[in-house]
Amino acid sequence: MADNYGAAAEFYDIAGRPYWKPRAAALTKAMSAAVQTNSPIVDVGAGTGLVVAIIGAALATVPILAIEPSPAMRAALASRVQANGLAPRVTIAAGTLAETTLPDQIGGMVACGVLGYLTPDDRHALWRLLADRLAPGCRAVVDAAPFPATRTVRPIRVGVARFGVRHHEIWLGSRPTDPGRIELTTMCRVVQDGRTVRESVSTVQWWALEMRTIVAEATAAGLTCRRAGWDLAILTAGPDRPLDTQRSGTVTSTKC
Ligand SMILES: C[S@@+](CC[C@H](N)C(=O)[O-])C[C@H]1O[C@@H](n2cnc3c(N)ncnc32)[C@H](O)[C@@H]1O
Repeated sequence: MADNYGAAAEFYDIAGRPYWKPRAAALTKAMSAAVQTNSPIVDVGAGTGLVVAIIGAALATVPILAIEPSPAMRAALASRVQANGLAPRVTIAAGTLAETTLPDQIGGMVACGVLGYLTPDDRHALWRLLADRLAPGCRAVVDAAPFPATRTVRPIRVGVARFGVRHHEIWLGSRPTDPGRIELTTMCRVVQDGRTVRESVSTVQWWALEMRTIVAEATAAGLTCRRAGWDLAILTAGPDRPLDTQRSGTVTSTKC
């Protein structure tokens, strides 16, 4: 099967790091109840392991199940897990969410940057699974699509980093396709002295999931849902604390 992230994995962290930096405190706080349960936190679409590293550093004892189907992303994930001393408690599942056997009780879940890959049926199944298996008081963090289903967004440079004499850039754009669907375009470029020395363009199809849809669907499945910033939602299987105790900081960046 083709690896959607084969070309972009090398560039992913250039946008992913600044995206997660202002969200790390809210993420950690949302996952903190897992410590009392000793049930795993599940990171769906763990990518290069940015979320695993944040949670792993903050919550010293919690086991983590990192689900990641892309071999290229998984290479970075495994490397980060080892480099951060997390290997004894991070299990890496090489597949999609649907292909992975999940624990009976879940201490927390993060599904960010990934809901757009799930069909509406798969998404509904995810909400039901969370309602059934999230341990009492534990939470899931999910996000809305970065781009709307209603208009084209011309490519935006979402990250740039220096590597020696060159700069690596990552750009994202999108255009509507079918109703509720978008085509996301990722362009990765290496520039030296104003000249492009390497470039790749890849596209993926996404469900452009809006926050109000997340809230409506999750609530209908029996979850308590509240916002944390413009793109994150925190879901609980029972009642949760008020929003203002866990609001995240400035959240303006994006990644895909
Ligand atoms: C945009 S990246 C997000 C990475 C990470 N969650 C983050 O926020 O930094 C999306 C990731 O989800 C993975 N993915 C795509 N479809 C998936 C599925 N059905 N189940 C699990 N992971 C999936 C991709 O391979 C990719 O690594």
